[in-house]
Amino acid sequence: MTLSKPVQKHDELRNIYVKPVLIKEQRLFAFTYRYDRRDEVKNYDAAQMMDVLWEMVPKRFLNAVLFTVNEDVILLVSSKGKATIQTKRVQECREQNLEHDKQKVRLINPANPWWYQLGLTTREGKITADMQHKFKQIYKYAEIVESLVKPMKFDGAVHIADMGAGKGYLTFALYELLTQRLHLDVDIKGVEIRPDLVLKINEIIKSSGLKGLEFVESSIGTFRPEKLNVLIALHACNTATDDAIAKGIRAGAELIVCAPCCHKQIRQEMERSGKVDAITRYGIFMERQAVMITDTIRALMMEYYGYKTQVMEFIEMEHTPKNVLLVGRKTDKEPDRLMISKAISDLKRQYGIQQHYLETIL
Ligand SMILES: C[S@@+](CC[C@H](N)C(=O)[O-])C[C@H]1O[C@@H](n2cnc3c(N)ncnc32)[C@H](O)[C@@H]1O
Repeated sequence: MTLSKPVQKHDELRNIYVKPVLIKEQRLFAFTYRYDRRDEVKNYDAAQMMDVLWEMVPKRFLNAVLFTVNEDVILLVSSKGKATIQTKRVQECREQNLEHDKQKVRLINPANPWWYQLGLTTREGKITADMQHKFKQIYKYAEIVESLVKPMKFDGAVHIADMGAGKGYLTFALYELLTQRLHLDVDIKGVEIRPDLVLKINEIIKSSGLKGLEFVESSIGTFRPEKLNVLIALHACNTATDDAIAKGIRAGAELIVCAPCCHKQIRQEMERSGKVDAITRYGIFMERQAVMITDTIRALMMEYYGYKTQVMEFIEMEHTPKNVLLVGRKTDKEPDRLMISKAISDLKRQYGIQQHYLETIL
């Protein structure tokens, strides 16, 4: 059940989430009280739960939704006190989940002090109006990375390089997710070529007392990781993404995640060749085709080196047009290198491409 729409607009308690749990064979109800800046969990038996609910609805909350296995029951109380109940059948019967997950913490908690220092939130931990989009992007990224990292097994700390880490938003999100939610030991290096950024971010890391996170002033090409489990490169410009992928492959990273940025190198090759077809004679489509060819060859190159690749949407187009995420997971399966090489050669021939930078450096 969820209770929402506080009667007092500025009530610090924003919502209550209730779920049945089994604790030491006893069936209880876990109430998560979601305040502005923290969550609190309390467990009640059925009678106590009813007392709390009588106290809360409609005195403190005007809406309540009860999610049962086959229907949702929605209680809506108007500000004048008029109550209505609606029921909606669910399409597929749900399973009841009695797992006790009190330990679960939010993916990203904007109340953590580094978000203020990075300029995403106010001092009170509220996301500022102009950073709402960025925060959505960060959150989505954390969701995807969590699903990729969770099934992996690590022997000791997870060694990660975030290539072209920039202002560090996504690097901190990664740090927070892995340490606070997944409880992993980490060694995360944010690799960034701009010394001013490296200095500033390292100061924030130091003042927040974060262990296992460090920014390194280096170009991606010259960075030498001692050990690498996960390679991340988000929006690293043009061929910097290729430098990062090559670094990941050479270091034997088990997971490579990159969101390519501008795709100048292949576009220039295509234009230079003078070859145009029914699609690429239109400027915008030439641009899009260059993006797809660049990233298809990157995905194929990763497969050539034994990675299972996936291309997925990172975030909706409205937040950023650079929304493709290229994911490679190392496998033990021997790739069909002949077939992959042929696929790459065919693509290059078709579009008059002499060389793909990643192929050359590898
Ligand atoms: C567009 S920003 C992306 C920042 C961050 N990864 C994100 O997605 O929010 C790209 C960053 O990569 C850095 N960069 C570009 N080429 C690089 C290279 N060859 N080596 C290291 N850093 C590089 C830039 O200075 C910039 O800060």
